[in-house]
This record gives sequence, structure tokens and C-alpha cells, in this order.
Amino acid sequence: MIPQKKQGAAFAPTNIALSKYWGKRDALLNLPTHSSLSITLPTKGTHTIVRVSEKETYILNHKDQTYMFGERMRSFLKPLNNTFSIETYNTIPFAAGVASSASAFAALTLALDDLYKWNFSKTELSILARIGSGSACRSLWNGFVEWEEGTREDGMDSHGVPLEIKWPALCVGLLLLETQPKSVSSRNAMEATKNSPFYDQWTLTARSDLALLKEAITKQDFEMFGRISEGNALSMHALMLSARPSISYFTPKTWEMIQKIWTYREEGFDLYFTQDAGPNLKLLFLEKDIGNVQKLFPTAEILKPFIV
Ligand code: PMV
Repeated sequence: MIPQKKQGAAFAPTNIALSKYWGKRDALLNLPTHSSLSITLPTKGTHTIVRVSEKETYILNHKDQTYMFGERMRSFLKPLNNTFSIETYNTIPFAAGVASSASAFAALTLALDDLYKWNFSKTELSILARIGSGSACRSLWNGFVEWEEGTREDGMDSHGVPLEIKWPALCVGLLLLETQPKSVSSRNAMEATKNSPFYDQWTLTARSDLALLKEAITKQDFEMFGRISEGNALSMHALMLSARPSISYFTPKTWEMIQKIWTYREEGFDLYFTQDAGPNLKLLFLEKDIGNVQKLFPTAEILKPFIV
């Protein structure tokens, strides 16, 4: 395929799943066993510049990381029949469970669209990004985004769909507990948890959580929203713990913070969390509690997903 420009450039934000994607019906196309729902963090994400070049290179955060130009990226780019030089800058720690692969593949897809002048629709770009990393298909929009699982074998109906409804008072606090790359990638962990005796139950729970979460968002019922989001994340981690052998993304620090959140909640503070495939937590709370969060979690970075 012939590029239409010297280079393609794009930014894509990351997203945090509130009702998680964990389980595939097709591993090659990243087709999920159930739909999921996320909130985009518009100021956190990945800037990417892509060029066709003689030699494969990968510069991450100004450092040559060509060794990371792995199978995943290569197979994603293979249909284009070119060699690429990719320069990318993350405003989030790499592989620390703050969904950097979501923004990375969404930004790469958008940068390729710019390079080749495809002018694809966001839905088409979402389908493409999904093939790189499932969660990337939700990073094409701001706000709440549902990834509709779809039923087609070719995956053409499995992509992000933005929800109309906004929630300006909603806040997310990034509680970074570790910045080292995770020990097991979400891709490998997802595969390894398939043998959990609770697998089928997880899929059912995830479906009902998604419906309840959408209800909570529609009603702007924060207690319900927090309860379902936190419960969904813990069910996903319980699934991982019940796999044989077990997978855990918890560190002692993660547990210490979870206990802290639960204690504050017992004392009447409307504070919940979610956790992805890493030890870090994302606090969920409303604008009225920003002061409390700043006081109790001074290292948390507070973001307002709807105020850009
Ligand atoms: O898109 P992947 O393969 O990085 O998987 C993402 C998995 C979770 O972040 C744990 C959940 C989700 O829905 O984003």
C-alpha cells in the first residue's frame, strides 16, 4: 500500500473499563465473549507518528525501544506490506494497568489513517484498532463508550459505540502504586484464565453488570455506579485468582489501598475503585469529594473525564 503523506500523526486517549472485557470468542480478531463499557480519560493517552521506512524502528518516550516491536505490532501492520518507523509518546506509564495498549493501538490506527488518507469512519477505525488490542476499540471517542460484542464471525459488528449521556461531576483518581511493566500481559492472562471453574459465571455476571451500569449512568445514581464498577473489577480478579495456575495482579500495596477505600466508605465517604490488569487502582468519586480525595490520597492524580 502506498502512503499518501510523508508521515501520519495522531493522538488517542486511554480508557478505563467500568464493566470489563475479559474473555474472547475469537483470539485472532479479539472478539469478546461479552460487551463492555468504559470511560475515556481525554488528557491521558498516546501521541504517535508513523512513517514508512527501510528499517523497522520503535521510539517510545524518546528512547529507542525497537526490541519492543514485537509480534503483536508486526502482525497488526502486516496487511499493509511496508516496513514502519513508529515514534510514540505516552502520557501514562507503560504497561502498568493504566490501559496504555488501548491508546497505543487507537493512536497507531488513527496515524495510519492519516498516513494512507483512508478517511475511514470512527466505527471502521474502531474495528481496526480492536484487532491490535481489544480495549483500543473504545478509545476512539470521549465519554462513556460501550464495546458492543457483535455476533458476526468477521467481527464487523464488534466495535465501540459512544453513549449519549454525560456525567460532568464524575471524577477518576489515578492511584499509581507501581510503574514497572506488569509480569503477565492481559493477552496471556486472558488466555490463561479460561480454565477457571467460574468462567461461565463471569460472562453472565459481566453481562448483567453492564446492563446495571448503564441504568446507574442513566439515573446518575453514583452509589449504584460505584458498587457495580467495583464489584465487576473484583469479579474479574476473582476469576484470575481461581484460574489454575492462579494469576494475581494484586501487590501488598494494592490491598492496603483497597482496605483504606473500604474503611472510608464504611465511614460514609462515597468512594469506589476499579482495577485492571495491573496493581494500580483508579478511584471513582464525584466532584464534591475532590478535597477529601486530595487529603486522603495525596499522590492520586485527579481527572474529570467530562471536562476537557
Ligand atoms: O485490550 P487488552 O488486551 O489490553 O485487555 C484489556 C483488559 C482490561 O483492561 C483488564 C479490561 C478492559 O476492558 O479494558
